[in-house]
Amino acid sequence: MAWIPWHSVVSLETGPICQRTAPCAVADSSKGHPRPYHTAVLTFFKLALSAAFATAIGASSYAQSLEPATADARRASQGVTVINGYSQHWWKEAVVYQIYPRSFQDSNGDGIGDLNGITSRLDYLKNLGVDVIWLSPHFDSPNADNGYDIRDYRKVMTEFGTMGDFDRMLAGIKKRHMRLIIDLVVNHTSDEHKWFEESRKSRTNPYRDYYIWRDGKPNPNAPNGFDPPNNYNSFFSGSAWQWDETTRQFYLHLFAVKQPDLNWENPKVRQEVYSLMRFWLDKGVDGFRMDVIPLISKTPGLPDLTPGQDAVKLWANGPRRDEFLQEMNREVLSKYDDMSVGEAIGIDLPGTHSLVGEDRHELSQIFNFDATRIGSIGGYIYRPLHLPELKAVYTAHATILGKQDWDTSFLGNHDMSRVVSRWGDTSTPELRAMSAKLLQTMVLTLRGTAYLYQGDELGMTNYPWTKISEFNDIEVQNRFKTEVAQGKLTEQQLISGAAAYGRDNARTPMQWDITKNAGFSTGNHTWEPVNPNYLQINAADQVKDPDSIYHYTQKMIALRRSDLAFIYGDYQDLDPKHEQVFLYTRSLGASSYLVILNFSSQPIDYTLPQGIQAKNLKLGNYRDSSDLAGATTLHLRPREARIYKN
Ligand code: NOJ
Ligand code: CA
Repeated sequence: MAWIPWHSVVSLETGPICQRTAPCAVADSSKGHPRPYHTAVLTFFKLALSAAFATAIGASSYAQSLEPATADARRASQGVTVINGYSQHWWKEAVVYQIYPRSFQDSNGDGIGDLNGITSRLDYLKNLGVDVIWLSPHFDSPNADNGYDIRDYRKVMTEFGTMGDFDRMLAGIKKRHMRLIIDLVVNHTSDEHKWFEESRKSRTNPYRDYYIWRDGKPNPNAPNGFDPPNNYNSFFSGSAWQWDETTRQFYLHLFAVKQPDLNWENPKVRQEVYSLMRFWLDKGVDGFRMDVIPLISKTPGLPDLTPGQDAVKLWANGPRRDEFLQEMNREVLSKYDDMSVGEAIGIDLPGTHSLVGEDRHELSQIFNFDATRIGSIGGYIYRPLHLPELKAVYTAHATILGKQDWDTSFLGNHDMSRVVSRWGDTSTPELRAMSAKLLQTMVLTLRGTAYLYQGDELGMTNYPWTKISEFNDIEVQNRFKTEVAQGKLTEQQLISGAAAYGRDNARTPMQWDITKNAGFSTGNHTWEPVNPNYLQINAADQVKDPDSIYHYTQKMIALRRSDLAFIYGDYQDLDPKHEQVFLYTRSLGASSYLVILNFSSQPIDYTLPQGIQAKNLKLGNYRDSSDLAGATTLHLRPREARIYKN
């Protein structure tokens, strides 16, 4: 099996009244630092809601539920504000911005992004309207997989700076009333982690059982006299088992050879993980994005996969997964005002509740890749996007997930190609800009906590790769060494696949301005090449231009923040079969928004279904519209996005 790209596989508080468009800070008693909070709405709910209005929007509170009979009423009786059946939490309302530190901003000219670089750009993020930063791994690592192979969980990667730099960055984030979540990579470590270095020394080493060691199957014709213990393949090509000569056993690595899987059956391993989590939470981070977290519980006995068996589904649904996550929640997460988002490969929609349901006490939310993986045929091969198929995914989310569950909205991350290149039209600068704005509209109006990937607010595109040697990603390099070497793929096929869908696309340096290396680095070499289109696509130009994608994203975030309908409101797809237009509503009580997205590059005269009128235009990616308020047929231009309040 080749690597399957991830996308393809309150308590009521009173406080200062602040505007929904500009969250203010209130003291967070659990952590002693200010946190942004939409207290105006809460205060309004607490002090002024008439019973009738509360019923109309589905909000309940302690005062209304002296004898809790329903789940909502029970939660309300525990001091939780419930809106439209959902409990209110800061992390549900947040806009999260993912930083891939290696590619964000270099501060010392070595061509590698670093923490001081991030600190120098915090105002840019604050001005955009970001609430939470998710930082991809910043820990000490030999970088076999760019930091997703951790050597020391309590040390900052040398290239990224020092712990002092981390503390200054965190203080800068808090000062601006933003929050930080970090990447928790604990399905595996680096083979250079001291636990593994000990573990591989002898079969009796105290750390032996921190990892998964097995005898091979005797085979006189195999290189070391043994075949691997079972037929698992790694995500990064080849067997998931690596022979280790010192102790003449194999160890399991579902990812690269340099990423041995931890043995979560061992209670000492779990305590080590909880301890490192506390270390970072006690420093003030606000939670974790959890790397491939469903894979932590392995199938007992590790039997061979049967023909046609879905390996990822099997690995993600091990028998002790929920027990481990509940233990982690009990021992760590429940003690902090944090958020946790699991990278949930192998988890289908019906399986989501187990991980995020409020009654489950595991995680706050997960990433489900059904939408971003749409059209995946395997490897780097995709069918063109068919809009009704995509809409069906979002309807399934809204239908299958319940009010006790929470969702995420995202279209990009460090494991995917650039969304505007994937789903937009980059054939002209205008179409690219409109496509990028349309996609930002979608991320910020769909259900769930919204995640923006760095550079998408500028409409950054895929890089024009031409040679295998240009790719940094271990996924591409390993496929070259295996699949191309074995004649399963030609070199050119691998290059064109990786150029269109490879992970390196998301990892080229941020394009800040028109100076050397797009303002990312003053060095003579950058770790990934800078996209030559930085002269046309860069932050400095866009910050100056009120019509830019950056400013559109900023307005879109402000609109989202102005009304809880975008957070807790119901979702309805009004035209599921239309092949060019995506039309949906987000509604909460009397507040209802109509989102209209023309996914095609052709103009369309679009008649709204069910006699709907488009009333009050709140935001659109074209500067003006000739359609009058109350129109029932809209003259949509290529890649046009509009949001009406109806
Ligand atoms: C998922 C991460 O997002 C990806 O970048 C990484 O390669 C694998 N997990 C292994 O840690
Ligand atoms: Ca640097």
